[in-house]
Amino acid sequence: MSVITDVRFRRIFDSRGRETLEATVETARGFRGTAGGPSGESTGTHEVQAFPKGGVTEAMATAARDLRPALVARDVADQAGFDAKLHEVDGTENFSRIGGNTATALSLAAALAHAAEDGRTLAESLGAAAHPSQWPAVVGNCLNGGRHAIGGPDIQEFHAYAPDATPLEEVRAAIAVHRAVGEAIHKAYPTLALGRGDEGGWVAPIGNIEALEILTAACASVRDTTKLPVYPGLDLAASEFYSDGKYRYKDRTLDSDGQVAFVAELVDRYDLRYVEDPFDQEAFGPFAQLTAAVGSKCLVVGDDIYTTKRSRLGRGIAEKSSNAILIKVNQVGTLTDTLATVALAKANGMATVTSHRSGDLPEGWLAHVAVAFGSAGLKCGLLGGERVAKLNELLRLGGATEAPH
Ligand code: PGA
Ligand code: ZN
Repeated sequence: MSVITDVRFRRIFDSRGRETLEATVETARGFRGTAGGPSGESTGTHEVQAFPKGGVTEAMATAARDLRPALVARDVADQAGFDAKLHEVDGTENFSRIGGNTATALSLAAALAHAAEDGRTLAESLGAAAHPSQWPAVVGNCLNGGRHAIGGPDIQEFHAYAPDATPLEEVRAAIAVHRAVGEAIHKAYPTLALGRGDEGGWVAPIGNIEALEILTAACASVRDTTKLPVYPGLDLAASEFYSDGKYRYKDRTLDSDGQVAFVAELVDRYDLRYVEDPFDQEAFGPFAQLTAAVGSKCLVVGDDIYTTKRSRLGRGIAEKSSNAILIKVNQVGTLTDTLATVALAKANGMATVTSHRSGDLPEGWLAHVAVAFGSAGLKCGLLGGERVAKLNELLRLGGATEAPH
């Protein structure tokens, strides 16, 4: 048994410059794990609450007063017991007393400390094969809209989806698409000052269809030059523009059936291989209609609809709502809760895509959990230190070393 001797908390900043909290777990043998809690902007209604009412200040005070004494002297190898203790001390349904970000930071810090004790990577410690036969596809944000980019398209994220290659090839292909998208926008609007959104994708005052045309052409040109499979994908984050039973785009308003037909047509026309949250977060039925229509050729991914919750995934499985689920640890707050959802997905043949948040941190643990979960995708953006940290960690796991010359 290796005992936890100290638990500390620190106020830090995320990639949007907002305050969050990081935790350090230290063991008797002097090993440490440190992790922070990332934050979403287009959060799902069913996520745990990131911070208590009093924000980071209250989270820090509660953690020091109530959590530290409950966690010191525990066995660091007992992740399930550690995570259960977080729930016990919190005592609410949604971590609203200690804060979901406190729980996430602690759960990951404990897992990292345990891995360090054993001299293993987090991925190995969580059960990943030393040489996985299949690496997660890189799902990388090339163009931002919605709540992640002021003045951009209504659709929140335009992705390069790069599967079925080595981590290095996937990262290269996805970044090449990002670059080609930037060049295409610059060519179409030579005097426009181009910026980047919260997840590192380009921001430009263009519509959804124009953005898709540019993305699709960029993917095709990268496929041509690299011979690597890289295809367009979307996260519509449709709950953000759904109200009173309608999907309200700047240039069109669609009812539920209209939205099913519109998205199915986009999948066909642009050969989309990845479509996330094309419907409102309660729309299990329309999700199932789309999955029946395009699920054989495209990952239909549920994010806000499931919020990584086992019970909501259970409903999605029963109703055949999607063929994939997005996994974000801080939507449920602990590794143990996340693992339970991943296990249910696996048992039912549903793919998992492990994901960052729009307000993230320059930490690499996400790549480890994606590999350990056997995820079909790692969705972590492409540019910006907090995104590159995860891609580079995937490369380290992928053994991308080159002989000296
Ligand atoms: P969020 O966005 O982190 O702001 O929730 C990411 C996503 O919707 O996938
Ligand atoms: Zn999403």
